[in-house]
Amino acid sequence: MSNALKEYLVASQERVEKALDLRLPANNILPKRLHDAMRYSALDGGKRMRPMLTYSVGKALGIAADVLDGPACAVEFIHVYSLIHDDLPAMDDDDLRRGKATSHIQYDEATAILAGDGLQTLAFQVLANDDSMQASAATRIKMIQALAKASGSQGMVGGQAIDLESVGKKLTLPELENMHIHKTGALIRVAVQLATLSQPDLDPAVTAKLDHYAKCIGLSFQVKDDILDEESDTATLGKTQGKDQDNDKPTYPALLGLEGAKEKAQNLHEQALESLADFGPEADLLRDLSLYIIQRDH
Ligand code: IPE
Ligand code: IPE
Ligand code: MG
Ligand code: MG
Ligand code: MG
Repeated sequence: MSNALKEYLVASQERVEKALDLRLPANNILPKRLHDAMRYSALDGGKRMRPMLTYSVGKALGIAADVLDGPACAVEFIHVYSLIHDDLPAMDDDDLRRGKATSHIQYDEATAILAGDGLQTLAFQVLANDDSMQASAATRIKMIQALAKASGSQGMVGGQAIDLESVGKKLTLPELENMHIHKTGALIRVAVQLATLSQPDLDPAVTAKLDHYAKCIGLSFQVKDDILDEESDTATLGKTQGKDQDNDKPTYPALLGLEGAKEKAQNLHEQALESLADFGPEADLLRDLSLYIIQRDH
């Protein structure tokens, strides 16, 4: 990882942590156990890749981080909700997440479901109300539309449905790609979109290039997640290694082999870089992030 990216990662992680904390209801507000569960899963953990992407696009476009805290938190709240529900017994049935007990183990299943629900709606409340965004009503509506589409049955939730329907089946490569684009790609893509939407007069050609970049890294992110599930270990991942095989999930390594999956990730990284060909050094963080996504160890 480049030094510039390392510094930026640490600085953005601290920034996100504070921004999330500020927007989450305190755990002395009723219902205390629910708010405690929301804070337990949202705070103190995770790579914060999606918020970092929002800020990095902001950096490439000269948008102040202050106005992006709201969008960055909104996408992370949806992501954390998706993780809580993904880990439930009815879905992947995992007991470890971000190095801690999963929500339904730490609390109980009903609380985990509700904590996910609460985080999901909080995301939209932030986009609608957060003053620090300094956004017009029209911009807020566009952001809410984009996040709703990316999260819902034609985005992440749809991808999760395909994932569960596909257990024990051998998908074709286009089917697998479609599943990954939805379950993981959609939220990564909207993390970029929320940044571009915050600049209403942005050249549509620039928006399109950044969107293409986001599509490439959104897919490479899940390809690498599948690779890590095979090759990494539970302590490094902070989640149980080998769950995809145990649950008989269709994955890139299952379909293409580990080497084939790695080639696919490298190829997507190269396509992501091509999408940024017209940008100068202001997009170097985005270039570094794409490489980090396929080289990370957790
Ligand atoms: C894990 O996402 C779930 C996927 C969509 C692959 P991350 O790898 O971003 O998880 P955290 O946020 O760092 O814990
Ligand atoms: C989950 O994919 C994608 C989500 C929408 C949460 P995985 O099931 O592979 O994520 P991990 O490996 O549990 O983090
Ligand atoms: Mg899953
Ligand atoms: Mg899972
Ligand atoms: Mg996984």
